[in-house]
Amino acid sequence: MAIVAPSLLAANFLKLKEECKMVNESEADWLHLDVMDGQFVPNISFGIPVIEYVRKVTKKICDVHLMIETPENLVPAFKKAGADNIIVHLEVCPNLHRNIQQIRELGAQPAVAINPHTPVFLLEDILADLHHVLIMSVNPGFGAQKFIPHSIEKIKQLRKMIDEKKLDVLIEVDGGVTVENAKELVDAGVDVLVAGNTVFSSENPKDTIKKLKAFSR
Ligand code: DX5
Ligand code: ZN
Repeated sequence: MAIVAPSLLAANFLKLKEECKMVNESEADWLHLDVMDGQFVPNISFGIPVIEYVRKVTKKICDVHLMIETPENLVPAFKKAGADNIIVHLEVCPNLHRNIQQIRELGAQPAVAINPHTPVFLLEDILADLHHVLIMSVNPGFGAQKFIPHSIEKIKQLRKMIDEKKLDVLIEVDGGVTVENAKELVDAGVDVLVAGNTVFSSENPKDTIKKLKAFSR
C-alpha cells in the first residue's frame, strides 16, 4: 500500500477544518503542508500559525515541505507548531548535513527535496541520514501543474541507490500526481504519493485517496 499525503495547498482555505476532517476520515497517512516564501519559489502560501491550527484538528502525520530560504532560522518554530516531518530543499542548503542534524535533534523526521533540475547523485552522501527524499515532479511554487515525465527516471535512480546501500529511506513524489500516473510512480519505486489537486478537486476526495492508497510496490 502506498503512503498517501494529500496536499492542503489545494484545499478550500475557507473550510480548512472541514477539509482536515475529510482527511481524518480518509485512508490518508500523512497531511502534506506546503510553505512558500516568495523568494525561493515565486509564490507565498501559509506559515506557522496556520500549521499550528491545522495540527489541532488533524490526526495525520504533518509532513511540512519548506520551500523557503535559510530554513534553519524557522525549523524550530515549525517543529513547535506541530511538524512531524520537516523537508528542506537541497538547493537552498549549503550546509545540508547541519540542517538535517538540526531537524533530528528537535525530534522531527528529516527529509530533503530536490527540484526537477537537481540530479539524484547529489544525495549520495546525505541519504543515510534521511527519513525520506522528496522528488519534485513539477517546479515548486504552485499546485495543479503538469507532471514532468523525466521524474520517473530520477525515481528509478534513487530507488537503485537506496536499495544498493540497503537503506530504509522513503521516496516521496510531489507534483502532478494523478490516479492515472500513480501506478507507474509506485512501480518506479515511490513509497509516498503527494496529491493536491487530484484529491481536493475530485468529486469524492475520500474515494480518490482510497484509489491512490491501493497502489503498492
Ligand atoms: C508544489 C507543492 C505541491 C503541490 C502539489 O510546489 O510542493 O505539494 O501542492 O499539488 P498538485 O498535486 O496539485 O500538483
Ligand atoms: Zn509540496
